[in-house]
Amino acid sequence: INKLAVLTSGGDSPGMNAAIRSVVRTCAYHNIKCIGVYQGYEGLITGDFKELDARSVRGIINKGGTMLKSARSKEFRTKEGRQKAYQSLMDAEVDGLVVIGGDGSFTGALIFNQEFGFPVMGIPGTIDNDIFGTSHTLGFDTALNTVVDAIDKIRDTASSHNRLFFIEVMGRDVGHIALNVGIAGGAEEILIPEEDLGLDRLVDSLNKSRKSGKTSSIVVVAEGDKIGKNIFELKDYVDENMEGYDVRVSVLGHMQRGGAPSCFDRVLASRMGVKAVEAILEGQSNYMVGLQNGKMELTPLDNAIKGKTKINLELLRVSDIMST
Ligand code: F6P
Repeated sequence: INKLAVLTSGGDSPGMNAAIRSVVRTCAYHNIKCIGVYQGYEGLITGDFKELDARSVRGIINKGGTMLKSARSKEFRTKEGRQKAYQSLMDAEVDGLVVIGGDGSFTGALIFNQEFGFPVMGIPGTIDNDIFGTSHTLGFDTALNTVVDAIDKIRDTASSHNRLFFIEVMGRDVGHIALNVGIAGGAEEILIPEEDLGLDRLVDSLNKSRKSGKTSSIVVVAEGDKIGKNIFELKDYVDENMEGYDVRVSVLGHMQRGGAPSCFDRVLASRMGVKAVEAILEGQSNYMVGLQNGKMELTPLDNAIKGKTKINLELLRVSDIMST
């Protein structure tokens, strides 16, 4: 192996730049060339490449987003698109590809490998933490800190006005962000897709806590939660069915994906980049690097794509007890 390529794909997440830096510098350390692919798989098809050396990734470890840009490519979903991508890699004499992204990006990488036998390695980058094979995806920790900061601020205004706030956080299919920030932000209730407790129980519980003397409350809602899917309808229902609170909604949105990566994400990104490059150099392919019990481990891409992450039931219980 003489030359590797790295790309970022799907939704960006804090720590992607730190991972790019790590991939590039690990290549430099092992005296192999590295090229950055711009615009995700789109850039693979059009050959939007730039050679990167150790110095070209200076000053990015602390930056959110991704210097390589990210995109969701329709063309890469077609055989013709992937053929073009393969040709671009051949023309540039690239021997292996590191993909930083989520499960959609890994699915593309796996199909690409199956069609052309091209070595691929995945680094899990998404704030949702919804990838099997790693306790933490890149950006998850930073997003938690960003959201907790936002909740703290909303709490100030909630308590000044005796208000009940529904705060929607990201998590398309999973409640990892909601569950963690709910505990850390002192939420009264946490609504996540993995657990459907129903509207009536929610209203009962809010009424009970109101009667117990609480004057303001925060309910954290994962965007993928069934009853929270339309948070404004949820708000109207609760408004009609309970007394004593002025109810408001705050949808945090994409601010959760931005900002400087936390120390944890920078360290994780640096470790993942080293592991990904060294695994390819050792002849491995079709794996994702991940953090398991404090160590860097490889999980077959297929398992990472198909496996489901589980909600920590202990956290659910802690959250219940804390809202007493
Ligand atoms: O990165 C994952 C995620 O943050 C999901 O939680 C959310 O549903 C989605 O991205 C939104 O992404 P976009 O607006 O880029 O399509």
